[in-house]
Amino acid sequence: MFDTPLTELIGTEYPILGGTMMDLSTPPFVAATSEAGALGIIASAMYPDSYKDYRDAIHQVRNATDKPFAVNINLFPMMRKLDNVKYVDIAAEEDVRIIETSGFAPPEDVVSAIKGHGMIWLHKCVGVRYACKAESMGADGVTIVGYENGGATGNLNVATLILVPSTIDAVKVPVIGGGGVVDGRTMLAVLSLGAAGVIVGTRLMLSEECPLHRNVKEALLSATELDTDVIMRSVGFAHRIWMNTPARKIAEIEESKGNLEDLLPLASGWAAKKMYEMGDTEAGTVSCSQGVGLIHDIKPVRKIIADMVSEAGRIHEALAL
Ligand SMILES: Cc1cc2nc3c(=O)[nH]c(=O)nc-3n(C[C@H](O)[C@H](O)[C@H](O)COP(=O)(O)O)c2cc1C
Repeated sequence: MFDTPLTELIGTEYPILGGTMMDLSTPPFVAATSEAGALGIIASAMYPDSYKDYRDAIHQVRNATDKPFAVNINLFPMMRKLDNVKYVDIAAEEDVRIIETSGFAPPEDVVSAIKGHGMIWLHKCVGVRYACKAESMGADGVTIVGYENGGATGNLNVATLILVPSTIDAVKVPVIGGGGVVDGRTMLAVLSLGAAGVIVGTRLMLSEECPLHRNVKEALLSATELDTDVIMRSVGFAHRIWMNTPARKIAEIEESKGNLEDLLPLASGWAAKKMYEMGDTEAGTVSCSQGVGLIHDIKPVRKIIADMVSEAGRIHEALAL
């Protein structure tokens, strides 16, 4: 029922991408996403210190699944400059067929590396004009995420319901839509807008396999659609996150025109580690969609995807009556 130009392009069972989630996108989690019939995506930026670790991550995913998976190339500003062409080259050497870029405009050298290796290129962005630019540079598909989404929002503030069809009207390549896709209802809604697929981040964060500490997952289960907000806009890095104490502190610093140095301790790697690995829900911040308010359980990735697809199928049939 859900064979689309996206499943044709990337070879997955379902038209679903598992959103890259930086430190959380460990090989077992990525492999579980692919095994469930969606596209698992390795975050190359998780391996800034060692190409060997990056290569090992690709091997681990390949050993755990024979289904398609991709590598994400991070185009957001980073504290450390990454050699993204090298990440693409290694992915090609390891026979990864699909590259997702996300963040700012794709640089020419990265695009020519992807194209030169004959890989499939998906670019994720938050605005119609960015999608058009990626298509003009040769992207095979564009992922567009609305303002509801967990993670980077950009500054255009357009919601999924409007952004997805606007993008479909503007480009010819398959469009993957997201921002708030957490169940069969929201999946079908985005497909009904004409998208060839959906991207799912926050719902998969609240899976058994996602390596986020149980305390944080449980705290997020109690969150409603009102408990996220966009912060870091003042430093050009607007992100939708769950509003805990550090997030509110960041918002206050921004309000009082504080600078990046004041914000860094709250968004540091150590704060994230204390939160993600040690379960201190008030240590740092975590990206999170408004869709969190619709999530009421933690279950295996396979079940999340299967439930999403079967619920979308049921609604689709009911609508056709
Ligand atoms: C915890 C978390 C971390 C994320 N990290 C990244 C990232 O490193 N790179 C990226 O392109 N997108 C990142 N995202 C965005 C997701 O890949 C995806 O686009 C988004 O979650 C989709 O919206 P949704 O959360 O409403 O499903 C992250 C999202 C979450 C929830």
